[in-house]
Amino acid sequence: MSKFKDLLESQEDGILTITINRPEKLNALNANTLSELKRSVELAYDEKKIRGIIITGSSKKAFAAGADISEFTQLNELNGRKFSERGQEIFALIENCQKPVIAVVNGFALGAGCELAMACHIRVATENAFFSQPEVSLGTLPAYGGTQRLTQLIGKGRALEMMLTGEMIGAEEALAAGLINHLVSTKEEGLAKAKEILFKIFKNGPLSIGMVINCVNSAFSMDEDGYQIEANSFANCCKSADFKEGTLAFLEKRKPEFKGE
Ligand code: COA
Repeated sequence: MSKFKDLLESQEDGILTITINRPEKLNALNANTLSELKRSVELAYDEKKIRGIIITGSSKKAFAAGADISEFTQLNELNGRKFSERGQEIFALIENCQKPVIAVVNGFALGAGCELAMACHIRVATENAFFSQPEVSLGTLPAYGGTQRLTQLIGKGRALEMMLTGEMIGAEEALAAGLINHLVSTKEEGLAKAKEILFKIFKNGPLSIGMVINCVNSAFSMDEDGYQIEANSFANCCKSADFKEGTLAFLEKRKPEFKGE
C-alpha cells in the first residue's frame, strides 16, 4: 500500500522510482500531487539508501499533461502568486537535489509536466513523447519555472517559439533541440536507460556529484558567482576522504571505494 494517493514509489538498487499516478487525468498535477511529490523528494534527500531518483508517469499516454486545469478557476491575483511560487519551490527542490534525478518521459509532457521534466537533471523520452508549454492558449504562462528552464535548455529563440505558439514538439525535435538527452522506443527501455546512466553516476564520489549539481545550477543564478562556488566546492572536495580515496585508488590501480565523506 503506497503512502501516497497520486504517486507510486518503488525502491531498488539505490534508486527511488516515483511514478505519477493519475492516469484518468493524464497525470495532471494538482495541489495534492505536488505536495506528495515534494514529500517524496524530501524523504529521498535524507534517506542514505537512495542514491538516485527516476520520475515517470503511470499513464500509457502521459508523463504529465500539465497542471490540473480544474484548479485554475479558484485562482486570483493573490493566490495565483502563491500557486506559482509553490510550484517553483517544489521544482527547485528537485533541481537542487544532491542525488541525480532523471525524468523518463513516457508520453505527453505538457505545461507543468514539461516544467517537471526540465527540473530533473537528465531527461530520457519515449518515441510517443510530446512536449509543450501551452499556457498562452489558456491566457496564462508557464509559472513553475518553465520560462527560465526552457530558455536555459534550448535557447531563447526556440524557447520563445514554443512558449508563444504553445505548440507541441515531438521527441525527435526535442532531442535535436537539446530538451531531452536520450530518445528510446518504450517506457521499459527508458527506465533501463535511466538506470544505466544512474549506475554510471553511482561509481563516482557522492560528494562531488552533489557539488557538480550545485555548480551547474549556479551557472543560471543571478545572485551567485558560479566560479566562486566552483572554487569553494573544489576546496571542500580537497578536504574530503572521498577525494583522497579517489586519487589513491587511481595511483594504486584499483577501483575507489567512496563513502560520501
Ligand atoms: N488538467 C486537468 N485535466 C486534464 C488535463 C489537465 N491539464 N489534461 C487532461 N485532463 C483530463 C481531461 O479533462 C480528461 O478528463 P475527463 O475524462 O474527466 O474528461 C482526461 O484527462 C483525458 O484527457 P482527454 O483530453 O480526453 O485526452 P485526449 O487524448 O483527447 O487529449 C491532451 C490529450 C493532452 C491533448 C488533452 O488532454 C489536453 O490538451 N490537455 C490539457 C493540456 C494543457 O493545456 N496543459 C497545460 C495546462 S497549464
